[in-house]
Amino acid sequence: MIVRMNDVIKRYNGDRLALDYLNLEIKKGEVVGLLGPNGAGKTTAIKAIVGLLAVDEGTISVFGEKQNGQNRQLRRRIGLVTQDVTVYEDLSAYENLRFFGKLYGLKGEQLKARIEAVAKLIGLSDRLHEAPKRFSGGMKRRLNIGCALLHEPELIIMDEPTVGIDPQSRNYILEFVKELAKQADTAILYTSHYIEEVQAISDRVYIIDQGHIIAHGTVKALIEKMQGDQVMAITVKHPAKATVLTLKAIPDIKEVSLEGDTYQIVTEPGVSVLDKCLALLAEQTITDVSNQQANLEDVFLMLTGKTLRDGAVD
Ligand SMILES: Nc1ncnc2c1ncn2[C@@H]1O[C@H](COP(=O)(O)OP(=O)(O)OP(=O)(O)O)[C@@H](O)[C@H]1O
Ligand SMILES: [Mg+2]
Repeated sequence: MIVRMNDVIKRYNGDRLALDYLNLEIKKGEVVGLLGPNGAGKTTAIKAIVGLLAVDEGTISVFGEKQNGQNRQLRRRIGLVTQDVTVYEDLSAYENLRFFGKLYGLKGEQLKARIEAVAKLIGLSDRLHEAPKRFSGGMKRRLNIGCALLHEPELIIMDEPTVGIDPQSRNYILEFVKELAKQADTAILYTSHYIEEVQAISDRVYIIDQGHIIAHGTVKALIEKMQGDQVMAITVKHPAKATVLTLKAIPDIKEVSLEGDTYQIVTEPGVSVLDKCLALLAEQTITDVSNQQANLEDVFLMLTGKTLRDGAVD
């Protein structure tokens, strides 16, 4: 077990409850997504794990040791990518990486080799001698992430690393997080309010709202647990009422209706009846097929009554 938070409570200024009996675990080699809207407590939880913030109640252990903010050895095993970019604008990318590498005790050939390896990972090998003030937002983000990876931490924590950047950099970051995750010993905690991202990279997800974990599990399990029936819509050129009954006769299909020229076909979640439906409807000339599958967004909506899109809670 890399991280274990047990009934953690944090109040800011003595009253605002930022963490409300928070329970969270990260195991070796796992990619854990922490998903929640603005102000949910993600950054507070991260600061508590890293030891930058004292909590009011509950316990936190990191690498099997109690986190009390005093243990510098613990800190050295963690790579923290902060929500705000914290690189030095006037130093070159290389100098930034060297600075952070030295902070973590690297030097000489080892430091040099790590800078080169990290630069490659974040896709900045050919821009190392430029200063970040000339970089795009996405490049700065990548450099910011690189600064946390030099010392090969066993636990990497990334606090919304893809906010406000171009889609290309975003994809780049997601791809290399997946690469990092392949190193069996590295655990990753990734916070975001972009559901698709969390869904794409996490082994397990915690959904946090108002300082409390309201659901956790694998993406698949969360969706299956929350999901009602699955609806497939098949639109045809020549619909026939009689076909409704023939479709209904297919095992696994629970309900069928014809609305205009679209058949609405209801099944249990995770069941595929597409082949059978296509075969049966081939003569009616299919013009469109769509599957309305639940996703994490639906899970969140069902649990909180709120939508969670790009951080905006409406
Ligand atoms: N230093 C602070 N002093 C007082 N209140 C704070 C402080 N930092 C955070 N809070 C409050 O604690 C709650 C949780 O904030 P936190 O920054 O952990 O949320 P978050 O999930 O990281 O949000 P975001 O997605 O916007 O980064 C919010 O209500 C916030 O206003
Ligand atoms: Mg935050």
